[in-house]
Amino acid sequence: MERKGKKEEKRRKDEDLFKVVDSTLDTRTYYLLYQLSRKLNLKNIYGAISSGKEAKVYPAITENGKWYALKIYYVSTAASKRALEKYTFGDPRFEGIKVSNTRQLISVWARKEFKNLSRLFRNDVRVPEPIYVLENILVMQFIGEDGIRAPLLKELPDDEINEELYKDIIDQLDKMVNKAELVHGDLSEYNIMVKDGKNYIIDVSQAVDIDHPNALELLKRDIENLNTFFESKGIEIIETEEILRRFKIYENEDQN
Ligand SMILES: Nc1ncnc2c1ncn2[C@@H]1O[C@H](COP(=O)(O)OP(=O)(O)OP(=O)(O)O)[C@@H](O)[C@H]1O
Ligand SMILES: [Mg+2]
Repeated sequence: MERKGKKEEKRRKDEDLFKVVDSTLDTRTYYLLYQLSRKLNLKNIYGAISSGKEAKVYPAITENGKWYALKIYYVSTAASKRALEKYTFGDPRFEGIKVSNTRQLISVWARKEFKNLSRLFRNDVRVPEPIYVLENILVMQFIGEDGIRAPLLKELPDDEINEELYKDIIDQLDKMVNKAELVHGDLSEYNIMVKDGKNYIIDVSQAVDIDHPNALELLKRDIENLNTFFESKGIEIIETEEILRRFKIYENEDQN
């Protein structure tokens, strides 16, 4: 009797898990979500906050009322494959990894984002805390409140965009490159979230080691993106060259 009761309870919980989650996920991803919900004690997963080029992000709440963000990578997009090949090429951490199918490829991609997040988090760069990664699903700290995500820098009202925010983002960039030794590679007003005046760098799957052959070029573009945005908001910016001089990868390049 008791066993039957438990089974029944489990079935009911599984049905409850996805309140508004969409039907575009493949069977294996569903299976993984159930596994994950056991492991992390998830009570509910809600509808996607966003669907980007490579992934969808879903808010989830635990039995204890803690919120997480689940980033679920699409299992079969040509875009992911292209991006992965582009950015892992020349990165010593991913040398020797053979990927024979898309699911495996995407898992490497998710794991890469998890590793990058961990490295940044460890080095005090303000990023969502990485929690767990399982194949194509990355779990991280939810940036927002009560399941409502914080705005992107792009969405922030003009009166909240000031020099202090700009300087703080540049400080994060400084730590990212000089301490964590990573270059974001896709930094812009679309990949920074702002909560209570604090900025969080997100979307770090494509970040590369400072030893990567394209690191300097990517870093320069990241800085230019930020400067273009803040300049358009009337903030007094620091010239790209001047910011670049703070980084050892730039100095090394300079001497050549
Ligand atoms: N930790 C988080 N907490 C809350 N919301 C998040 C979190 N991470 C991402 N988001 C939301 O999900 C969106 C997509 O996340 P992200 O940029 O990492 O994925 P993406 O697939 O690369 O998207 P895109 O192609 O649009 O850049 C973000 O713009 C943000 O609105
Ligand atoms: Mg993004």
